[in-house]
Amino acid sequence: MNYRKLGKTNFKVSEIGYGAWGIGGKQWLGGSDDESVTALRRAIELGLNFIDTALAYGDGHSEKLVGRVVRESRGKIFVATKVPPKDRVWPAKAGVGIEQVFPYDYIITSAEESLRNLQLDTIDLLQLHVWNSEWVDRDEWKRAFADLKQAGKVHSVGVSLTEHDPDSGLSIVETDLIDAVQVIYNIFDQLPERQLLPLCAKHNVGVLARVPLDEGGLSGHLTEDTQFPAGDFREWYFRGDRKKQVVEHVDALLRDLGSDSELPKLALAFCLSHPAVTTVIPGMRTVKHAESNIAVSSQGALPEDILEIMKRHAWDRNFYN
Ligand SMILES: NC(=O)c1ccc[n+]([C@@H]2O[C@H](COP(=O)([O-])OP(=O)(O)OC[C@H]3O[C@@H](n4cnc5c(N)ncnc54)[C@H](OP(=O)(O)O)[C@@H]3O)[C@@H](O)[C@H]2O)c1
Repeated sequence: MNYRKLGKTNFKVSEIGYGAWGIGGKQWLGGSDDESVTALRRAIELGLNFIDTALAYGDGHSEKLVGRVVRESRGKIFVATKVPPKDRVWPAKAGVGIEQVFPYDYIITSAEESLRNLQLDTIDLLQLHVWNSEWVDRDEWKRAFADLKQAGKVHSVGVSLTEHDPDSGLSIVETDLIDAVQVIYNIFDQLPERQLLPLCAKHNVGVLARVPLDEGGLSGHLTEDTQFPAGDFREWYFRGDRKKQVVEHVDALLRDLGSDSELPKLALAFCLSHPAVTTVIPGMRTVKHAESNIAVSSQGALPEDILEIMKRHAWDRNFYN
């Protein structure tokens, strides 16, 4: 496993991190706690030291599982978690004030609730789970972040940006008051390359590349007939004729690449090939997926000709609408 420095912090985090949304259950069905914990332990055994969870993932369930595994680990494991919007609206809506979404007291009590779930003394990276650039000059988030750091409850801070709107993070990166942004970045959604990633590099702000496998669209397993358990988030995400659309895009990509390499490996390597990316955080609830994904870190950046082909397969669409 290779490690990269997270922005201005002194954290050296693994290039492959662990996306812990799926292990919260509730929105991702079909897994089990035992299987998830075994996969996470195996990932750590293989050198993974960065986990991204959130209070909202299974209403604290993901944090509890993460805390359990982190507390039993011998080496340092960096834990990132998130403050859910107080109005429980994802993504943040234009025109809705920060006082309704992230008032000062609410950010503090939410971080404290996460610490109780994790049963850890400190959160390594606390992120706001939605962000609206209209709030950049407001005091609430700045004071809450500063006070949590001062109290030793949080080491570093950041925001998780709206789906397919990476530019919503430009102005907060320019404040130099955050350590990291979390953004969708994958072969289909390459928008962050235009402005966000260069700006993060310039300001030395860490980048967590989320949804690298397009919620499974780039897993290599999705077919037109794939069925998700009733109530699973992916049933909604891939609704209507979307599976067909994804299959067509993936087929075209693989045809152009003419590569023997497995699609998920290529998809993760795509993210890590950008130097501004600190870590890529796939969801992986099985040992098989954890082992296969972690192996990508030793492969290094993809060759330019492969990246050039991938650039042509950027796909402008928003399945979260
Ligand atoms: N608003 C936000 O802040 C936000 C939103 C979404 C996601 N996130 C973060 O980003 C993380 C990653 O996104 P995600 O989990 O939604 O989606 P993802 O990483 O794009 O895709 C996860 C899916 O890919 C499968 N997979 C993983 N490795 C594989 C492999 N080697 N071969 C085949 N399939 C593989 C997983 O299967 P199994 O799980 O069954 O192994 C799972 O079904 C989340 O866990 C979360 O931490 C944040």
